Amino acid sequence: MRSSDTTCRHFLTLSDLSPSEARALLARAVELKRMLRAGETYLPLRHRTLAMIFEKSSTRTRVSFETAMAQFGGHALFLSPRDTQLGRGEPIEDSARVLSRMVDLIMIRTFDQAVVERFAAYSRVPVINGLTDRCHPCQLLADMQTYLEHRGDIRGRRVAWIGDGNNMCHSYIEAAEVFDFELRIACPEGFEPDTDLLAAAGERCTLGHDPAVAVEGADLVLTDVWASMGQEAEQETRLRAFAPYQVDDALMARARRDALFMHCLPAHRGEEVSASVIDGPQSVVWDEAENRLHSQKALIEFLVGANP
Ligand code: CP
Ligand code: NVA
Repeated sequence: MRSSDTTCRHFLTLSDLSPSEARALLARAVELKRMLRAGETYLPLRHRTLAMIFEKSSTRTRVSFETAMAQFGGHALFLSPRDTQLGRGEPIEDSARVLSRMVDLIMIRTFDQAVVERFAAYSRVPVINGLTDRCHPCQLLADMQTYLEHRGDIRGRRVAWIGDGNNMCHSYIEAAEVFDFELRIACPEGFEPDTDLLAAAGERCTLGHDPAVAVEGADLVLTDVWASMGQEAEQETRLRAFAPYQVDDALMARARRDALFMHCLPAHRGEEVSASVIDGPQSVVWDEAENRLHSQKALIEFLVGANP
C-alpha cells in the first residue's frame, strides 16, 4: 500500500517499501552499525528535527529514535497527548499541518491505523508508524536485520509465528511477501490475524491452531505478548486461551537445530515464552532490540533522502 500523499514517502506499513528498497535498507543498517562501532562520525541530519508522538508506552521505540537523531546530529522531540493540544482534541489534520511545517520527520505510536494515515495525508514531511493496533513495521526492519546478521538472507526460509494474530503478526504477514519467506502461524481460535491481509499473502502464509505443526522445521520462531497495549482488560481471558501456546524448550526442539528465537519485547517469561528459551542459546532478542537503532537510522536516512 502506498500512502495517500503521493508527493511524500511515508512508512506506515512494511509494504510501503518495495522488496528491493527493503533489502537495500537492511544492508545500509548493517553498514551504519559498523560505522557507529568503528567510531566514525556521520552527521547527515544536523539541525533536523524528528517529532515523536506517543499515545502508548514505549522503551525501545522512544530510545532508539531519539538516539538515532542524536547520533545523526539532529534532535528529537517527545510529544505526549497529555501535554499537547492533541490530547485536548485539536484535530489530527491540523496537528499534522502545523508540526510538518516545523519538523523534518514525524513518528507516531497510536491505536488506530487510520490516525497515522490521516496524519500522513496532511503532512508535508515523512510520517513513520511507530506501532498501531494494526502493525509494527519498524520492528520488522530490526528483526530482518537480525536474521540477516545471524543467518544470512531470509529468502525461502520458514518462519513460525506462535500466539496472537496481532500487530506484530500482521507485519510478519507483510514481511513474508516483502522478504520472500514462508510464514506458518499458530493462533488460538478467535485470535487469528486479519483475514484480508492473510488472503492477500496467498500460499506463502498458512494459518493453523497447533503450535507444534507451525514450528516444524522452522528457521525462525517468534512470539509476542498475549495481551497487547490497550487489551489489559482481556488479560485473564487471554491467559487461559493462550496457555497452550507458550514457546518452551519442547516446542523449540521441533524447529531446526539452528533455529533462532525472536521477540519484539517487552516479554513475559512464563507466559508466551519460557525463561529457558528467551534467555537460552537460540535467543537473539538483545541483538534484535539493538537493531531497532541501526535499522531506524537507515529508515530515517532513506525517508529524508526520498523527500529532499
Ligand atoms: N518492541 C517495541 O516496540 O518496544 P517498546 O514498546 O519498548 O517501544
Ligand atoms: N503487540 C505488542 C507489541 C509491543 C511492542 C503491543 O502492541 O503491545
